[in-house]
Amino acid sequence: MAKIENVGVVGCGLMGHGIVQVAAEAGYQVVVREVDEATLGKGIAKIEKQLARAVEKGKATQEDADAVRARIQGTTDYDALADRDLVIEAITEDLALKLEMWGKVDKIAKPDALFATNTSSLPVIAQAASTSRPGRFLGLHFFNPAQVMKLLEVIRCVTSTEETMSAGLEFGQRLGKLTVATKDKAGFIVNRLLVPYLLDGMRAYEEGVGSISEIDAAMKAGAGHPMGPLTLSDFVGLDTLGSICDVLFDEFRERRFAQPPLLRKMLAAGWYGRKSGMGFYDYSGDQ
Ligand code: 3HC
Repeated sequence: MAKIENVGVVGCGLMGHGIVQVAAEAGYQVVVREVDEATLGKGIAKIEKQLARAVEKGKATQEDADAVRARIQGTTDYDALADRDLVIEAITEDLALKLEMWGKVDKIAKPDALFATNTSSLPVIAQAASTSRPGRFLGLHFFNPAQVMKLLEVIRCVTSTEETMSAGLEFGQRLGKLTVATKDKAGFIVNRLLVPYLLDGMRAYEEGVGSISEIDAAMKAGAGHPMGPLTLSDFVGLDTLGSICDVLFDEFRERRFAQPPLLRKMLAAGWYGRKSGMGFYDYSGDQ
C-alpha cells in the first residue's frame, strides 16, 4: 500500500476542523471539503483561532502556525480530493448522507487511496461495502476536541486488510495519538461505555437526584472527571448523542442505550447543547 503523504477530510464541523488541524500540525498537506463557502469559512476560522491562541501562549511560533495554516486547503469541490492518499469522513452522523458522500468520493479518488470514517457508532462495514475498496476502508474515531484528546480508536471492519489496519495505526501514531485497535461493534469501546453513563446522568436529573450543576459538580469532584455528564453531553452535542443512542439501542435493545424522555424533549425543542446555544446550560452569551 502506498504511504500516506497527504490527507483529505470531508466535513469541517465540530470534529472535522479538529482532525484537519491535527493532521496539518503533524506535517500532512490537508484538503478539507465542505458543502458551502460559509460553512467552510467557519471551520477554518476555528482552526485559525486555535493557531493564534497557541502563538499567544508561546506554545508555537508565528512561523510554525503560518506553516500549519499553509498546509490546509479548503474546497467545496469533491474533485480536489482526487490525489489524496487518505480520505477521512467527518460529516453528519447519518448513514444515508455518508453513503451518498462515499459514492461521489469513490468515483474520483485514486484506486489505492485509503478511506476512513470518523463515525461515532454506525457500522463501518455498511460504509466500506458501499465503495469499490472495502479492503482499504477502516474507522478512525477521534474524540472532541480532536486537538486535545489523546485517543484514536482504529476500527477494523470485516473487510479491512492487515495493511489497512497498519496504515491507520501508523497514521494515528504520527498524529501523536494513543491508538487503540477495536472491532466494528456499535459504539466501539469508548461510546459503548460513555453513552450509558451520560444518559444515566440525565435520568438522575429527571428523577431529582440532584440539580444539573450538582450532578456535574459531584462527578467532577467525586470521580475526577474533567466535565460532569450534563456539561459533557452539551459539549458532544445532544443531537449527535441522540443519534448515537438510537444506533446503540437498535443494535443491543437495552434500556441503558435508550434516549431518556428529557433528551427527546430537548431535541424536539432544537436544544442541541453548546453548538446551538442551549442545552442543559445556556450558552447564548458565549462567543
Ligand atoms: N482546540 C484546541 N485546543 C483546545 C480546545 C480546542 N477545541 N479546547 C481546549 N483546548 C486546550 C486549551 O487551549 C488548553 O491548552 P493549554 O493547557 O495548553 O492552555 C487545554 O486544552 C485545556 O483547556 P481549558 O483550560 O480551556 O479547559 P479545560 O482544562 O477544562 O479542558 C477540555 C477542556 C480538554 C475539553 C476538558 O474539559 C476535557 O477533557 N473534557 C472532556 C472531553 C471529553 O470527554 N471528550 C470526549 C467526548 S466523547 C467523543 O468525542 C466521542 C464522540 O463520538 C461523541
